[in-house]
Parts: sequence; structure tokens; C-alpha cells
Amino acid sequence: MNSPWIAPSILAADFSRLGEEIQSVVSAGADLIHYDVMDNHYVPNLSVGPLVLQSLRKANLNCLFDVHLMVKPADRLVEDFLDAKPEFISVHPETTEHLHRTLALIKTGGSKAGIVFNPSTPLTVLDEVLELVDLVLIMSVNPGFGGQQFIETSLSKLREAREIIDRSGKSIRLQIDGGININNIAQASSAGADTFVAGTAIFGSNNYAKTITDMKKAITEEQ
Ligand code: DX5
Ligand code: ZN
Repeated sequence: MNSPWIAPSILAADFSRLGEEIQSVVSAGADLIHYDVMDNHYVPNLSVGPLVLQSLRKANLNCLFDVHLMVKPADRLVEDFLDAKPEFISVHPETTEHLHRTLALIKTGGSKAGIVFNPSTPLTVLDEVLELVDLVLIMSVNPGFGGQQFIETSLSKLREAREIIDRSGKSIRLQIDGGININNIAQASSAGADTFVAGTAIFGSNNYAKTITDMKKAITEEQ
């Protein structure tokens, strides 16, 4: 099993000081920076694009970026994001006509490829593209907004995804995103998640280091 990673979502950060906020969570123990991209088309909200990621890259923040694309169509923006060399780029199957091609585009462009499942999306396509996947993201809220309530049925979906990943023998990360906090992170971990996105729970707290440490402790105590 992969070591647990905490991935603060920038959506809940103070955007007027984005670079500093990222620096702070990295010093506080964050493993990955979750960069939510929303287009007011696939999801009813608008966030940041590739230009902002390019600037953050130039600021030498010394962190890994995990780009969660909630944009339709995905392919053209995938190419723009690849220029900023994020560690991961993840796409929703609904946002591309040819998922296999999109995942291959991400990988040949030098990033790791992720596939994202909404609460209403079955895992059925996963087997078909497993050879191209480095990360499986299970949404525990409907995408579009931070600060929503964790949807409990995502725990059984995590278990199902964990079985598929283990059967594959590949070291694929299993990520959970939406409504994660100190009270439910252990449950998500025991259901098989190893990568935990948290926006409000981290950036809304008054001590990032304590929150991230407590989250890691909750995961370890559960194991
Ligand atoms: C929702 C985003 C999430 C969101 C998580 O569409 O994908 O990453 O920012 O925020 P919290 O942790 O506040 O639910
Ligand atoms: Zn996200």
C-alpha cells in the first residue's frame, strides 16, 4: 500500500496570497497540492486555469501539483496544463469523447494520469483503461464547490476501487475528494484511500500544521 498523502485543495485558500498559502501548507506537511479547475460548463463554477499554475511553478514552491480538471472538453486544456509539468492531471470520463486517448495524451506529455468518478458514475470504465491510470479519484461530493457534505456511499465505491487496484498489481493511488475532515478521514482510509484531498478542513483551520498532523495521526491510528 502507498504511504498516505494529504492534498490540500487550493479552492479554499486565500487567492490573494495563493503562493504563500501553498508554501504554508507545504511547510505544514502537505504532500501534494490539489489544483481544482472549473469551467462553468461541466460544473457550475469557475476557478483557475493554466496561467496561474505557470506562475506558481515559476515561484519555485517546491511542491507536487495534482490538477483536477472539471472542464469539458478536456483535451485542449490538458495540453496547456502539461506545459506547467504537474505531477498528476486527472479527468472525468464525461468530459472527453475518447477517454483512452486523453489519458494517453497526459502520459505522453510527461504527467501521471488520473481518472475521476462522480458519485453517480459507475466504476465500469476503469478496467478498460487501467494500463494508463496512475491515480483513481473517487468524488465524495458532486464536483463544483468546496465545503460540501461528505456523501457516505462513496465509502463502498472506495472499497470497490481498492479491490480493482489491488487485483491489477499496479501502484495506483486511490484518492478521495470532497468533505474530508478530521472526523471521517480514518473511515476513508480503512475503505482503501491513500490520498486525501481536503480544502475547507485545512485552509479553514487556524493551524495548518496541527490539522495536517492530526489527519495523518487519525489515518495511522486506524491502520
Ligand atoms: C470539488 C473539488 C474539491 C473541493 C474540496 O469539486 O473537487 O477538491 O475543493 O473541498 P472540501 O474539502 O472543502 O470539500
Ligand atoms: Zn478536486
